[in-house]
Amino acid sequence: IVRNFSSSSAMQSAIKNVTVIGGGLMGSGIAQVSAQAGQNVTLVDVSNDALAKAKKSIGTNLSRVAKKMYKDNPQEGEKFVNDSLGRINTATDAAEASKSADLVVEAIVENIGVKHKLFKQLDGVAPSHTIFASNTSSLSINEIASVVKRKDKFGGLHFFNPVPVMRLLEVVKGSETSEATYKTMMEWGKSVGKTCITCKDTPGFVVNRLLVPYICEAIRLYERGDASARDIDIAMKLGAGYPMGPLELADYVGLDTNKFILDGWHKKFPDQQLFKPIPLLEKLVAEGKLGVKTGEGFYKYEKK
Ligand code: NAI
Repeated sequence: IVRNFSSSSAMQSAIKNVTVIGGGLMGSGIAQVSAQAGQNVTLVDVSNDALAKAKKSIGTNLSRVAKKMYKDNPQEGEKFVNDSLGRINTATDAAEASKSADLVVEAIVENIGVKHKLFKQLDGVAPSHTIFASNTSSLSINEIASVVKRKDKFGGLHFFNPVPVMRLLEVVKGSETSEATYKTMMEWGKSVGKTCITCKDTPGFVVNRLLVPYICEAIRLYERGDASARDIDIAMKLGAGYPMGPLELADYVGLDTNKFILDGWHKKFPDQQLFKPIPLLEKLVAEGKLGVKTGEGFYKYEKK
């Protein structure tokens, strides 16, 4: 007799133990949403300093969530923060931390050599059922997976910044990702509160494949002097209903990040006009004008 136990509205996931590698901007967000969803999390980074910083920022973010969620019940809010934080262990040894993982989500530096080294090491020690996923924005999932034996248990889980706020998760199917792995990744994504879409392993997946060329075209328009930065941004906000203009968005993402993604694609697809280098973007990055984080990009900002 098959009984249906799915009467509770909370989405169940086969994943109970998640190891997140890289406790920076993205990794700490991924750890937070997993812990909020009741999973046991091990957050890994290279130093205890980095981990302390990550836990502090997760604590601050959780308190913000609690204030909204438990407006009339601060005691419950405090419990939510403490319970969630209590589910996050920290570690500096990625191999050790992956031994009890059902899912490993990697969010370390965007460098293929470093990612290869990590996954090769983990492949030798993680249990055979453990799924490996990368949060890479610009590298190929198949290429990252090329160094592991468990290619059927490897896929992409591409989150958006800030992770606790942005509702989308792109679930990337590599050419050898199994149907079972894909399904588990989709279920896990839902369990951490995200709306999941599916995409093949193509440059930029869906969002960045459309967004990066759009931003680049806006920079080219401005570079040609066809319109001012402010007018380009106003145009897209009021004319297309976008919450941010493309140049504001470029400054927010970071001009170095925009250039990094564009350069990678240009190298791979040299004939694609949309991926050609942009002199103005090169100049701003060379001058250290990287956007909001450095106080200047297309606009000037007060330094934080
Ligand atoms: P970040 O620089 O904020 O964090 C990276 C963290 O990884 C650092 O704390 C660093 O100490 C740690 N790390 C580096 N090598 C490590 C290793 N071998 N073992 C353990 N920890 C290591 O970077 P961010 O922005 O969080 O990006 C991480 C990944 O997420 C990259 O692959 C990036 O492409 C991707 N991503 C970034 C987005 C963004 O908006 N920043 C959006 C979506 C994906």
